Amino acid sequence: MRAVVTTAAGDVRVMKVQERPDPQPGANQLLIRVKAAGLNFADILARQGLYPDGPAKPCVMGYEVSGTIEAVGQQVDPNLTGKAVIAMTRFRGQAELVAVPTTQTFAKPGHLTFEEAAAIPVNYLTAWGLLVAMGGLKKDEAVLIHNAGGGVGLAALDIAKHIGAKTFGTASAKKHDFLRARGLDHAIDYRNQDWLPILMSLTNGRGVELVIDPLGGSNWKQSYRALRATGRMGVFGMSVASASGIAGKWRALQAILSMPRFNPIGLMNRNRAVFGLNLGHLWDEGEKVAGWMREIMRGVAEGWVRPQVDHVFRFDEIREAHSYIEQRRNIGKVVLVP
Ligand SMILES: NC(=O)c1ccc[n+]([C@@H]2O[C@H](COP(=O)([O-])OP(=O)(O)OC[C@H]3O[C@@H](n4cnc5c(N)ncnc54)[C@H](OP(=O)(O)O)[C@@H]3O)[C@@H](O)[C@H]2O)c1
Repeated sequence: MRAVVTTAAGDVRVMKVQERPDPQPGANQLLIRVKAAGLNFADILARQGLYPDGPAKPCVMGYEVSGTIEAVGQQVDPNLTGKAVIAMTRFRGQAELVAVPTTQTFAKPGHLTFEEAAAIPVNYLTAWGLLVAMGGLKKDEAVLIHNAGGGVGLAALDIAKHIGAKTFGTASAKKHDFLRARGLDHAIDYRNQDWLPILMSLTNGRGVELVIDPLGGSNWKQSYRALRATGRMGVFGMSVASASGIAGKWRALQAILSMPRFNPIGLMNRNRAVFGLNLGHLWDEGEKVAGWMREIMRGVAEGWVRPQVDHVFRFDEIREAHSYIEQRRNIGKVVLVP
């Protein structure tokens, strides 16, 4: 089979399409013929050598796919063969074939394209974990979604609107029209403006009940200041470090040095909470995550989960796909097809 291989740490030239042996489904596994695979920011960070959770290189990344069941392993119903599915993969998804435990697989809704289906798991599960499971967002509360035009940002917007929260989002200015059309109440240009005073003025000086922040570094200090009493801040990324080579290492160091340090007494006296979410560390909580996925699939059926595919690249365009995300050109998901 053909697979997208991160051959080493470096710039986009380390990305190659190579032949690999076909995987075989083990017991309680399905072999999926991949029709579409999500490309995530983590894949970019892994290539840059800034993603400690990634496998040793050379490696095939890929946390999510859609496709059809090609074969089944022992203890799996053979009648499943040919069915269309969505799956969460612990890497190796960016390939023509991938073997996945049945517990990480869900029926693909018929009205979604394979590209839309592959855009769901990482973005919506992350957003669900942040807003619902850990952030406890409620109707009429205010939420600030940083990087609102990214895949996770748009998923968070869908969920926040479904809950009935008031939505604030930061993004590059050119993404604002799209975000407003998707229902964002207030878009803030965080690249050319100091976003905190703007948010405070929009909220009459009160701040918001929930901030979700994948930027990291000193931005986490600002996000914490944006919380009103009973506010929660969910941290889930370090986008500010993104760069190839020594520049990335330097930015990561700067981000770590400029992070806030939280004091439990301070949290208590300010009535605030800080939490973190790393979806890639929830593989031992499969039942819990499957429950989140069922809620998300209900959202697909009801129409309030709207996976937004910005661009579809072929495997052999993988370098362009990485550059597209690094240059901040995507609004929503970038998807790969074999
Ligand atoms: N912890 C978890 O479980 C988890 C899961 C998924 C994602 N994440 C994290 O969430 C963040 C967003 O992920 P995503 O999948 O939504 O990303 P995405 O769809 O690829 O969106 C990328 C966007 O990030 C913004 N951005 C901010 N800083 C950037 C930088 N230094 N370089 C390039 N783009 C930058 C840009 O939007 P603007 O033009 O609007 O700035 C860009 O378009 C990433 O940090 C990712 O690692 C964490």
